[in-house]
Amino acid sequence: MSLKIRVAVFPVAGRGTRFLPATKAFPKEMFPIVDKPLIQYAVEEAVAAGAEKLIFVTCASKSVIEDHFDSDSELERELRESGKIELLASVKEIVPSTVACIYIQQEIPLGLGHAVLCARPAVGDEPFFVHLVDDLIYSQTPCLEQMRRCYEYHGSSVLAVEAVLADQTADYGIIATEEEGLGLSRVISIVEKPNPEDAPSNLAVVGRYVLTPTIFDKLSATDRGVNNEIQLTDAIANLIVDEPVYALLFEGLRYDCGNKLGYLKASIEYGLRHPDLSEAFTAYLAGLNKES
Ligand code: G1P
Repeated sequence: MSLKIRVAVFPVAGRGTRFLPATKAFPKEMFPIVDKPLIQYAVEEAVAAGAEKLIFVTCASKSVIEDHFDSDSELERELRESGKIELLASVKEIVPSTVACIYIQQEIPLGLGHAVLCARPAVGDEPFFVHLVDDLIYSQTPCLEQMRRCYEYHGSSVLAVEAVLADQTADYGIIATEEEGLGLSRVISIVEKPNPEDAPSNLAVVGRYVLTPTIFDKLSATDRGVNNEIQLTDAIANLIVDEPVYALLFEGLRYDCGNKLGYLKASIEYGLRHPDLSEAFTAYLAGLNKES
């Protein structure tokens, strides 16, 4: 099988109920962190790791995501004519012209495993990334690039993991591993959203996966699990019976932008790092601290 990962899948059909009413008519994936929507950070990370085909598993009410990645000749003409060259570059560079975007509708909300299975015809018989847009990761080497390197070394599926507090296991897929060293270990079991007393460890899968296409047969054979949804975790539990699966303790800071506090933290910290804003925003926050 090819060791080059050319495909990335973005499951973006979720309703974002934790952000209602903001998400009533607007997808959470389009929420900005400073000046770029979350989905654009996700796409940039996947493209930087070598993805040439981007598959968005979406739903009818989210056509604005498609609009964001389409070219807009009217806007480009206006920016060119008014000499706003940097802004023009920023809209033209949203996705390189060599990268293909494919949109697949997830007709019924049957969970993450079902969303990934919907992408099967567009992925084909190739390894692929799955990127969950809610998990924004800030790192020197982008997380998917760290995972691509592991995949090219081992030729097996890779899950990004981090340690979470014991009382948070019911929010994540949780793994048990065999030690391998250098942050990489072989997964020996995985379970979706266990209560703390049933969790095999506190190592949680975050929203980055490299999967071999074998996962599709496993997903086809997966019954509904937690929340009455088809869980990717359950299919991975089956995959490890046939193939090695590795867990990577990635380097980086993760922001869970699927909840309000995580989203606010990301906005503040990306604002503090932003070259145009850093100085003024740092001063503003220091002033707030003095007032309180
Ligand atoms: C999904 C997965 C879960 C994983 C998590 C990472 O859960 O089902 O295994 O740990 O993403 O963010 P969700 O956050 O969609 O409930």
